Amino acid sequence: MEKTWWKESVVYQIYPRSFHDSNGDGIGDIKGITDKLDYLSDLGVDVIWLSPVYESPNDDNGYDISDYYGIMDEFGTIEDWEELLDQIHHRGMKLIMDLVVNHSSDEHMWFQEAKKSKDNTYRDYYIWHEGKNGKEPNNWKSSFSGSAWEYDENTKEYYLHLFSKKQPDLNWENPKLREEIYNMMKWWLDKGIDGFRMDVINFISKVPGFPDGAEKAGEKYVSGGKLFRNGPRIHEFLQEMNKEVLTNYDVMTVGEMPGVNVEEAKKYTDYQRKELQMVFTFEHMDLDSGTGGKWDLKPLELTDLKENISKWQTGLHGTGWNSLYWNNHDQPRIVSRFGNDKEFWSESAKMLGTFLHMLQGTPYIYQGEEIGMTNVRFDSIDDYEDIEIRNMYYEKVIEGNEDHDKVMESIYVKGRDNARTPFQWNSQPAGGFTKGEPWIRVNPNYKEINAEKAVADENSIYHYYRKLIKLRKQHPIIVYGDYHLILPDHDKIYAYMRTLENEKLLVITNFSEENVPFKQPENVDFKPKELIIGNYNTEEKGDPTSFTLKPYEARVYKGV
Ligand code: NOJ
Repeated sequence: MEKTWWKESVVYQIYPRSFHDSNGDGIGDIKGITDKLDYLSDLGVDVIWLSPVYESPNDDNGYDISDYYGIMDEFGTIEDWEELLDQIHHRGMKLIMDLVVNHSSDEHMWFQEAKKSKDNTYRDYYIWHEGKNGKEPNNWKSSFSGSAWEYDENTKEYYLHLFSKKQPDLNWENPKLREEIYNMMKWWLDKGIDGFRMDVINFISKVPGFPDGAEKAGEKYVSGGKLFRNGPRIHEFLQEMNKEVLTNYDVMTVGEMPGVNVEEAKKYTDYQRKELQMVFTFEHMDLDSGTGGKWDLKPLELTDLKENISKWQTGLHGTGWNSLYWNNHDQPRIVSRFGNDKEFWSESAKMLGTFLHMLQGTPYIYQGEEIGMTNVRFDSIDDYEDIEIRNMYYEKVIEGNEDHDKVMESIYVKGRDNARTPFQWNSQPAGGFTKGEPWIRVNPNYKEINAEKAVADENSIYHYYRKLIKLRKQHPIIVYGDYHLILPDHDKIYAYMRTLENEKLLVITNFSEENVPFKQPENVDFKPKELIIGNYNTEEKGDPTSFTLKPYEARVYKGV
């Protein structure tokens, strides 16, 4: 298997609005990030992924870009950004930027022009369609509720927006648009960045003719699903992007891809095909959703997780490469989700970190994960800022008949603002995130959970993550070893083995809050030699092949 820096790296995601505010306006900013780079370099991460900092009216917190070459005023200036890049490189880290090119903001000059008239030069930069029988062109639904089409009075056509109506979809069928995007990518790469995380990049090719999606029971519109995910020209577009841009730089690329399966992911990440290096799958993040989608809550079955993770681990082995993540700015906090953020807060956060970092792939840490930040429960819907939450609440409770409490519960469990509350730096007001009034409320537990405390406590989640990252540098098997699931049917223990040449690692994790006996199965050929990490003080003298795992215990043995 080819060795590359991005396989050996650990990535840390920064959501700038909520990371650190340097000027007291309540909004995180670029200088605020630069101030905290030593914290990140002490943690040991290699790559920083910065969520969008481009000019934006912030309908979707920067994922609606109005100028791809400019920095949002609230975040600072291009000089601040250049200083950030320098300081990152100076510390031996790398920077990848968010590339949001499935859609732009409706305030982008291209869209402002496009909507002026049907023969405007920029008209075909977007996707326009006439109505069908006085209604929307088809039944596709926006990810943020309602139809994916918006009527434009002036030109009497609809435009497509798979997200909010202020995020019109770009028309990748138009070669001129593609060229603009490639030029923009080169501009940033020439400034010295080290790669891109690509927003919903598998949505850029839509099925021609815009047919209706199949109706699902109980829904007004369906998402159109397969009709815009992994569409007919997607591989062609990505190969073109690779040829025109990426191949000329030593960079890392990861495509965010809702609805991608292993078979498709193999194509996207197969080195020979020259598309991307990694994708973000959503499959493991959908395991606690029912048939009604994200807001339809369902407990996680550990055997489902095993089946899913194993499929990806073995499916991409030797052909492509996995990205490994539990959290990002769109997902609730993992310790609250698959762990226990009360009684076993520290244990379960460490166990989940161990489980993820020992898999094959590049691990991503989302800001605050390394100190065990948790989900939040705000009493009022008005305290939530996220457009997805607000639109969903409006559609279900205000327009529809759904029960307020039930919908709030789903927001507490799944809402994106769980991840977007300000980073908790210390026990000062607003958790030390800002000297002003934060743009979104701070999680009230900041006095107990914060970075200052975590750094000072050598048993903290933070120091445990540091150790996980360090182990990756010491043991190539963590990066390159292959993966075998053991105990496939156990409903509490997830155990797997990694193998590289003569070396083996056995990862044993307890996903439950009970004491659970573990016995190494006889058909597993493994002789443990050394416990390289564990989240409890373990007596090494006991028999490492047969013992009782404590609640959320994790152990990793190296052996042969
Ligand atoms: C995925 C991003 O991660 C999310 O935050 C955003 O709302 C949508 N794409 C639209 O850009």
